[in-house]
Amino acid sequence: MEQGQAVERLQELRQQLGLHAHRYYVLDDPLISDGQYDQMFRELLDLEAQYPDLVTEDSPSHRVGGLPVAAFKQAEHVLPMLSLDNIFNAEELYSFEEKLFRYLHSADSLRYICEPKLDGLAVELVYQQGVFTLGATRGDGLIGEDVTAQLRTVASIPLSLQGNTIPEQLIVRGEVFLGKEGFARLNQQRQQEGEPLFANPRNAAAGSLRQLDPKVTAKRPLQFYVYGVASVPEVLATTGQEATLRALGKLGFPVNPLIKCCQSITQVEEEYRNMLELRHELAYEIDGMVVKVDELALQDRLGATARAPRWAVAWKFPAIQATTKIDSVEFQVGRTGAVTPVAHLQPVEVNGAMVRRATLHNKGEILRKDLRIGDTVLVQRAGDVIPEVVKSVVDLREGTETNIEFPQNCPECGQPLVEKADEAVVRCVNPLCPAQQLQKLIFFAGKNGLDLDGLGKKNVEQLVAKGLVKGPADFFRLDPVLLAELDGWGEKSANKVLEAVAEKKELTLERLVTALGIRRVGEVTATLLGTHFSDLPALMHASREQLVHIEGIGEQTAESIFMFFRDAATLELLQELEQAGVRICPKGGRTKEGVLEGRVFVFTGTLNQLSREEAKQLAKRFGAKVASTLSGRVTDVVVGVKAGSKQKKAEDLGLHILDEKQFLQLVEQEA
Ligand code: IVH
Repeated sequence: MEQGQAVERLQELRQQLGLHAHRYYVLDDPLISDGQYDQMFRELLDLEAQYPDLVTEDSPSHRVGGLPVAAFKQAEHVLPMLSLDNIFNAEELYSFEEKLFRYLHSADSLRYICEPKLDGLAVELVYQQGVFTLGATRGDGLIGEDVTAQLRTVASIPLSLQGNTIPEQLIVRGEVFLGKEGFARLNQQRQQEGEPLFANPRNAAAGSLRQLDPKVTAKRPLQFYVYGVASVPEVLATTGQEATLRALGKLGFPVNPLIKCCQSITQVEEEYRNMLELRHELAYEIDGMVVKVDELALQDRLGATARAPRWAVAWKFPAIQATTKIDSVEFQVGRTGAVTPVAHLQPVEVNGAMVRRATLHNKGEILRKDLRIGDTVLVQRAGDVIPEVVKSVVDLREGTETNIEFPQNCPECGQPLVEKADEAVVRCVNPLCPAQQLQKLIFFAGKNGLDLDGLGKKNVEQLVAKGLVKGPADFFRLDPVLLAELDGWGEKSANKVLEAVAEKKELTLERLVTALGIRRVGEVTATLLGTHFSDLPALMHASREQLVHIEGIGEQTAESIFMFFRDAATLELLQELEQAGVRICPKGGRTKEGVLEGRVFVFTGTLNQLSREEAKQLAKRFGAKVASTLSGRVTDVVVGVKAGSKQKKAEDLGLHILDEKQFLQLVEQEA
């Protein structure tokens, strides 16, 4: 394509992609399939790669993350980003209104806007001539950090504004946050990769945004809701908070749909009870409700203190925290040898669940929080997640508390523990440590490993204790008689497990790589390796350079993979697995290549999961031919949505008709 044509096509693609991203991420109402979107996106990336000079600030290509920055630049806020005063009960809500009346010298009824208080971090987004040019964290309220490149990767933040009345300059403010599921998945991944866990979604969101490499941010499912502007631009001509939010929605910003307008303070109180109920059903954390005076003229008259506006207040939800005592601390050895201190607590109910234990993460956390055995501590369970010790209540110390001594030797195998300067964790580095071995086996058989049915944590512990399993390969040569004789087993459950294990003898490269539990290699990296290498030997022989060159794999991860396959124990294990009958199946699932040999496919209508191009490639990969029109040589027709006349014709011709799901099953891709 010539430059002139490219300019036009790029403009069209950007506009289309912007529109579809808005339909998908903001309105939750997509017009096209993911496959079609991906195809357009790829076209954009290809064209921009061809003409790098044509990349614009608002190009959706920034969504995947640009080059890493060396450090965050400072970004000064034109108007300070204030905080909010908190209230905790209805009484304080009524005094808030009385105070408003006093300031306004009037007791006329006021209109309020009630907004869920999102538990993320506040950001400011600057748009010049409708284009997103600067994004910053709140910082100290006056100066924040420039995280523009990172914010560009947040899918629901518009890169350019929509509509006809676009203000010359617009500064909006809102909250960047992670949903409960995104948070849980992120922590799960970190656990797999031996990284310290985030204590709550807010920390996870902040940690994800404050990444020097925007590509890392791009991988985190961050969300955004707008909740205000620094000042209302004249062209918007709004006179209240509600109208401003509506105008922002029209410009393309995501506005929380739960925002309510209340005509009186009693309605505000009712709305609070509503939101409190709703809290547990929401896909993201909220820690309260923000109450704002709607009318902007009144907001101006009320003004602000140095800290917070007078026209708004945050009514906090009851804490999901409780106090209890630390009875003792146990040191657990994980599969990577990391030693984690776990506090045994006097049981206490927090947010509807009994909490008996809580991780103390690592040595540094214990010191930072100054925790001692016997201490009364504040524990929290944020977002139905892992309970956490927040701090000790120093005032309640009696003098009998004792320091938490980190062991010098592994509590399981007795070997000296190793502490590296650049790592937060203390490790047992004895490869024969029974605790590590057990955890590795539990992981290997577990959900994130081979997912062997009937071989959950308890059963693996039992098999190891009885000496039936010493290494991963032993799962594949279990003796039915010995298995059936185990306490609580019997022939039936033994057979079920043997069947499940036999079924997993053929597996994909990425599945095996994940299950091996290589340090720093979780599911994401394993998938990268699985797609990059044709088979296990290719991966095993990969050089450091080859590994680092794979996008998404950093130096430390590459080193860890490289060393893993240079370890004699690994080679022995892989050999044993092979001898036990474990096979890596060819690329693209379990299907033998060529399974569609001799068949000719036609695709018609819109597919949901695949783009047309992907579907064709897939069919070809499995040996089929692909045609674009129906004819005598066509054998199969895959019909998508709105297939139209071709479907009818195919029926008339008596061809084999299948839908997208059936096609995916045929090539054994996950539907
Ligand atoms: S208004 C001048 N609205 O709460 C008004 N803040 O405790 C300042 N927050 O830093 C903010 N949801 O990060 C506002 N709907 C909402 C909010 C909200 C969450 C956060 C925000 C702010 C903090 C203050």
